[in-house]
Amino acid sequence: MEEEFASRVSLTSKSGLNAIYPSRDPEMISFTGGFPDANLFPTQELGNSFQNVIGGAQTPFQYQIGQESEPLREQISKLLAADGTQVSPSKIMVTQGAQQGLDLVAKLLINKGDGLVVEGPTYIGALAAFDAYEPTYYTVEMEEDGMNLADLKKILIQQQVKLIYTIPDFQNPTGTVMSLAKRKQLIELANRYNVLIIEDAPYRWLRYEGKSLPTLKSLDTQDRVIQLGSFSKILAPALRLGWLTAGKGLFERLQELKGGSDLETSSLMIQTVNYYLTHYDLDAHLNQLQKSYQVKRNAMMTAMENYLPDFAHYTRPQGGFFTWLTVPKDLDLEKIQNSQLKPNFHVMMIPSTNLFPDKKHCNGARISFSNVTLSQIDSGIQRLANGLSSGYQKQSV
Ligand SMILES: Cc1ncc(COP(=O)(O)O)c(C=O)c1O
Repeated sequence: MEEEFASRVSLTSKSGLNAIYPSRDPEMISFTGGFPDANLFPTQELGNSFQNVIGGAQTPFQYQIGQESEPLREQISKLLAADGTQVSPSKIMVTQGAQQGLDLVAKLLINKGDGLVVEGPTYIGALAAFDAYEPTYYTVEMEEDGMNLADLKKILIQQQVKLIYTIPDFQNPTGTVMSLAKRKQLIELANRYNVLIIEDAPYRWLRYEGKSLPTLKSLDTQDRVIQLGSFSKILAPALRLGWLTAGKGLFERLQELKGGSDLETSSLMIQTVNYYLTHYDLDAHLNQLQKSYQVKRNAMMTAMENYLPDFAHYTRPQGGFFTWLTVPKDLDLEKIQNSQLKPNFHVMMIPSTNLFPDKKHCNGARISFSNVTLSQIDSGIQRLANGLSSGYQKQSV
């Protein structure tokens, strides 16, 4: 049957996206998925909001094509304004998660072979979405303060690039933040070389220390930045609600494409989240998330410091869900995970292989601390350290 599939499908089937789903091994400690902590969902408040929506005077069960998302778009506009980014509600589209935004933007802009710059490593789900449109990828190495802009500049000079995809805040998977200087330079480069930018910002509200930096969108004066946001990490992923903001020409075309894809985002969920935002205190909820995840981040850093062998290095994220592990270049973490970590030590992470378009970088891994308990962090990192040392000896023999 496979020979009948469109050629782009053979690419997406190898995305490795299934690596983020939970394992069936009951002993497994999994640092894989970028899942929020289930204990932190505002379950009661969202439940009350939903009850209120379905108990209202007007049936909420009909198609709502047209105006259904206006109140929520106003709420999102306020949320962005409080964060220093001014966007009119009429330029905000409510999407089925940020993931749909990635797909729609790629669908609108990428012809087969078009130049697309991504950070290396990058979000596995973005590659899965982009692969279907068959771009030519250019990968720019990640540094401690965001992507290497000297490399980016070389690429922009030498190649035809249409789009740059970046996650400036608590990058998935490295956990790093793009510095203010780099944010400004990136906008300048995009202006000079006439390139659009996707700013993917689902972790933006999850900062545990340090000062928030301006979004790329807020620094953009030429409507080049398409910003994606999400309620998945700050409320709950099952809502499947995110948003997209884009400049004039792009926005209308993206709306048309969205209609062709799903007609509309679930209006039940839109109304539920709008109710939540109007009747409950999102800031207080965010405060609670920040405090709880900070404790987990700290526990992860302590465990890594205590247990990891000297040949392993890791990032210290100021927010978000992830730290990035690197080991010497000759080690293949995917192989070590399959031969040692999973079967013998019952611990898992996301090896770097599938987080680069060329799938050739094997000595890194994403470790998520958001959906594990403090004791799992401690014992999981001990297991990881033992498994890495044993894999190191075997691969070095
Ligand atoms: C960087 C990034 N972008 C987009 C998404 C998709 O999120 P959503 O649940 O809003 O579709 C994720 C989810 O993990 C992510 O990490």
